[in-house]
Amino acid sequence: MPEPIMNDARTIYMDHAATTPVSPRVAEAMQPYFAERFGNASSMYRLAQDARAAIDDARERCARVLGARGSEIVFTSGGTESDNAALLGVALARRSDGNHIVTTQIEHHAVLHAAELLEELGFDVTYVAPDRDGIVAPEAVAEALRPETTLVSVMLANNEIGTIQPVAEIARRVRAHAAEGGRTVAIHTDAVQGPGALEIDVDVLGVDLLSLSAHKFNGPKGVGLLYIRRGTPFRPTQVGGAQERDRRAGTENTPGIVGMSVALEAAEAARPEAAAACAAMRDRLIAGITERVDGTRLNGDARRRLPNNVNVSFPGVEAEALLMGLDLAGIAASSGSACTAASLEPSHVLLAIGASESMARSSLRLSVSAGNTEEEVGYVIDTVAELVPKIRSMAGARRS
Ligand SMILES: Cc1ncc(COP(=O)(O)O)c(C=O)c1O
Repeated sequence: MPEPIMNDARTIYMDHAATTPVSPRVAEAMQPYFAERFGNASSMYRLAQDARAAIDDARERCARVLGARGSEIVFTSGGTESDNAALLGVALARRSDGNHIVTTQIEHHAVLHAAELLEELGFDVTYVAPDRDGIVAPEAVAEALRPETTLVSVMLANNEIGTIQPVAEIARRVRAHAAEGGRTVAIHTDAVQGPGALEIDVDVLGVDLLSLSAHKFNGPKGVGLLYIRRGTPFRPTQVGGAQERDRRAGTENTPGIVGMSVALEAAEAARPEAAAACAAMRDRLIAGITERVDGTRLNGDARRRLPNNVNVSFPGVEAEALLMGLDLAGIAASSGSACTAASLEPSHVLLAIGASESMARSSLRLSVSAGNTEEEVGYVIDTVAELVPKIRSMAGARRS
């Protein structure tokens, strides 16, 4: 085995699509809001008003990065809640206008399972297929529209194969189509994998709703936001107090919200250099692994993909065995999404782009950050190149 190179956590971390560490700057900004300025932002006294002011400030900062108004930002507990709220909130609010929504086969389960819940409630859902490169064609979305469609949800970038969807073009087509029929269709995008990699401007994208999750961009876990364009019909699904202008009940997570705003600004400021650094490592990983391992197949479009995403399949290799081998070598990586990694289900995304069940079970996702090094990249390539033939020969020996 190649000599391992370890960081302080004794891990070479290449799973940034699953989660990222909280940056020191973010942790420092959050610190005062745990024990010192701990007030409930809904209370009247000064201690509480400190928390209120911090939340208001964070709201404006997040809005600025997204090209939105502060009043259009709803803080949530993360990407899952934002996606659930977007789908259920709009579909239920517009139920009298129609019972059809459109999404894609490659969405995160936070969208897919919300869509299935809507089906149970009597809605019709069309799941548009991507092409074999993992891209959803705007025409395919436009073709799925019906007079009773009220919502379209298409992710900005896929969390497994990194493919970037033409959301702005999809939004343009959907709006044109709806306008012809004298209707409106709300457009949601799950942009959870976007910050630090892609521009996320709600007007450039042309969306009415957009989901983010702080822990994907060096913010804390358990906090996110849902952008809701002014005037978009929305029925709250988390009900109770009047927080977030009656759109999401519950005492606000002040440290989390403050941390997310600092992290989002930092991710946006660092984006050009970080994206270039990641893309160079991504391309070296893809080229190195493809060259050294027979039969490597790249999943997802080679160019229209996140700068930090590598997703490859190795015929004859069970992903679990490879991930265990990598872990022993000190490398944290994943197969498909973290959520499916614990189950034996093949990735729904890989199946949707035409992979066989066995290819879908043999995938490795490496997602880098600008904090990874060229030395780490070399070590990962060497380790994968050593492990894959070993696993193949062990599997061959078991069969014979
Ligand atoms: C594309 C996408 N959407 C939604 C989520 C869910 O976000 P959270 O972990 O904040 O609930 C994730 C996280 O894995 C994701 O990658």
